[in-house]
This record gives sequence, C-alpha cells and structure tokens, in this order.
Amino acid sequence: MARNSQLISEEREYLVINVQQAKDIVKDWLSEIDLVHVTKLGLPEVDDRYHYWRVPVCVKNGEKIGEVVIDAYSTEIIHSKTTKPEILTARLLKQDESKIIEKKQSKREYRLSNLRNTVGFGDSAHFLEEMPAESVDLIFTSPPYYNARPEYSEYEEYDEYLFKMRQIIRRSHRVLAEGRFFVINVSPVLLRRASRNESSKRIAVPFDFHRIFIEEGYDFIDDIIWLKPEGAGWATGRGRRFAADRNPLQYKAVPVTEYVLVYRKRTDLLIDWFIRNHPDKQVIEDSKIPDGYEKTNVWKINPSTNSKHPAAFPKELAEKVIRYYSFKGDVVLDPFAGSGTVGSAASGLGRRFVLFDNNPDYIEIIREEIKSWKNVNLNNVMFINCEPVKPIHKQLDLFKAEKHDN
Ligand SMILES: C[S@@+](CC[C@H](N)C(=O)[O-])C[C@H]1O[C@@H](n2cnc3c(N)ncnc32)[C@H](O)[C@@H]1O
Repeated sequence: MARNSQLISEEREYLVINVQQAKDIVKDWLSEIDLVHVTKLGLPEVDDRYHYWRVPVCVKNGEKIGEVVIDAYSTEIIHSKTTKPEILTARLLKQDESKIIEKKQSKREYRLSNLRNTVGFGDSAHFLEEMPAESVDLIFTSPPYYNARPEYSEYEEYDEYLFKMRQIIRRSHRVLAEGRFFVINVSPVLLRRASRNESSKRIAVPFDFHRIFIEEGYDFIDDIIWLKPEGAGWATGRGRRFAADRNPLQYKAVPVTEYVLVYRKRTDLLIDWFIRNHPDKQVIEDSKIPDGYEKTNVWKINPSTNSKHPAAFPKELAEKVIRYYSFKGDVVLDPFAGSGTVGSAASGLGRRFVLFDNNPDYIEIIREEIKSWKNVNLNNVMFINCEPVKPIHKQLDLFKAEKHDN
C-alpha cells in the first residue's frame, strides 16, 4: 500500500512523496496546537484525484478523531478540509461538539463591506489580488467561452483555459465573505468539426468547473437550469441533420438550457447566522423576496436582446440571482462583467457592484450605460484604469460654460 502510494506521488512529482514526510508535516502542526503528545497518527493515504495527502489523527487507543489534509504539491495543510483543532480537542475530552460550534459561531462578528461601486478595466486576476479579503458578499458571473479555434479564443488549449478559470475562482475565494455565494452561468461548448471527415465535439465545461469549485474550497448548493424558448437552440445548428434524416445514432438534442451553478464558500456558519446577526434589521426586512419567486430549479427566461455584447445574459437572470443570494446594501462582484448586466441589476436592487472586464469596448459600454443605472451616484464610483464618468449636472455645467464663453 505504502509502496503504491510512493509510486503515485513520485509519478505526479509531488513535494510530499512518502508517508513519513506526510506524518512529519502533521506532527509539526499538532505540536503547534499542543496536541502532539496526546494523539497518534494513522496511516497516511495519497488522494491523487485531488493531489492531497490525508493523515488520520487518532487517540492513543487507535480510535480516529479527525484528519489532516495536506496539499501534496505545496506541503501546505489545507485548513478548510482539516478537522479544526477545537473539534479534535472536544473529541479527545469527549465534550459536546455542537456546543463548541455554537460558541464559535456566536463569537464571530458580522462584517459589513466598505467597498464602493467600482468599474475596473483589466485582467480580473490582478484586481482580485489587490482587493481586501472577504470584502464581497456575492459573486455572479458568466466566464468567457472556450473556443478551440485560435481566431476566436485567447486560449490555445482547454487545459490552459481551465487553469485561468481556476486562478479566478481561487482568488475570488479570498475576496468572498465566508459562507456567501458564488453563482456562475456556464454551459457546455460546441466545437465545430474542422473538416467533413471529423465530427463536432461538445465539451462539458460545467462539470470541469464543478470540480474546480469543490477543490478550491466551495460547497455545491444548487444546479439551476435556465430554460430558453425552443427556437433559441436552433441557431447552434445542432440537431438539424437528425431532423432531416431521422437515423438512429445521429440523434442530437437541441440545447435550450444553460446551467446556473450555485456554490457557497465553505463554512460552518449556518445561513440563519447571517439573518440573526445582520446589524440592520430593516435591511433584512426590506430584502425579503415577494411572491412570484422561482420555486423549482428550472427558470424560464428569454435570452438577452442586448446587441452590444454577444454573450450578455438577461437582466432578469441577474436580478433573480441577486435577490435570492444577497441582502440590500451588499456588494456584488462580476469578474467578467461584459456589458455590465450585473451592475445594472445590482444597483436597481439597492446593492453595490464591482465590475471588471479586460475588453476596452465593453468597459466603454459600461461607462456609457452607468449613467442610466438606478441609485448610482457617479461622484462616488471608483473607475480603475479608465476615465471616470462625469455626473450629468457637471456635463450640463460644462455645456453652460461653453455657451457662456461664446
Ligand atoms: C460571457 S462574457 C460576460 C457577459 C456579461 N455577463 C454581460 O451580461 O454582458 C465574458 C466577459 O469576460 C471578459 N473577460 C475575459 N477574460 C477576462 C479576464 N481575464 N479579466 C476580465 N475580463 C475578462 C470578456 O471580455 C467578456 O466580456
């Protein structure tokens, strides 16, 4: 068993290659938390699906009381996946664990973000690094599409695309407040055949994203299906051949859905905690969702008719997500903002927004449209790497001055 693990870890070029190294890392940590003399370690196992070492922590008689998870590549302990020190202690002393969790939750303070409405031009990976930790209350986005044809895509390989998406998802984890939601609109991608001798391919992008979210410290909450009218799918061309010939095996479903996947930054805080501890009870009251909300995970919404961005999602979709997963006054981030649908929906619903996009044309659209968004004081919007938008009355003043000068 140990020999086998060693082989896998060497093959994968892990930094932690054997059970002894894994045990040493855990012993160092246990001595930091003063538990090294009252515990013993079980047999470490390598989990090469996630590139972890899992090391059982036991009491002296061998009974397991928890586990330590180590990142096999970096040697770091992954605290979000490791049994918390206070839980190990409670299990050692045979105390009531639920009391400890309750005590921990009641000690935490609800933090209100002080971010302003923000629009930034550039790579969101850089912005996310600069933002304060836990300063965002909700993330809603749809990522750029992967397209195998180099003329349409900045990514040559699918793995390269996923690597970039992982970077954004990982950095988003730091800026998202604990226990809050990351909602992502993502769909399988159709790669058209390069010649008549090849078949087209469909890449199940949402399932690859799912794995990344779980590995990066989010819990899966919901898979919402955005259902479009039947006509919307025919534009893809999929299913046309079958419609004409009707041969078995040729069947291909016309896609009329997209996924809206809901994740939550991993936490032991209950949702109730956020409602009980919000400092403004009126905000909680005002954020309640009226009748007519979506009761199932199938949401029927027409696609966007926004002609300014080829991949804009409908404002109705953004509004539903923002209503269901944030309170009024919260900060909603879209790291791939496009034409700024999330910003317009968020401000209309009394939330703040943080929008990033690396395409100057789309930033221009946001700068143009922001003037008509509700509840936005342009004097108070932070524009990064782009010209600020002047409030309307200032433009009028300028106009007046010009007239005066004549
Ligand atoms: C699917 S579109 C988003 C459309 C948006 N939901 C809307 O309603 O208009 C993805 C956007 O991500 C932007 N983008 C791609 N890579 C980026 C990066 N590294 N940083 C910031 N924006 C990026 C693209 O310019 C594009 O506008």
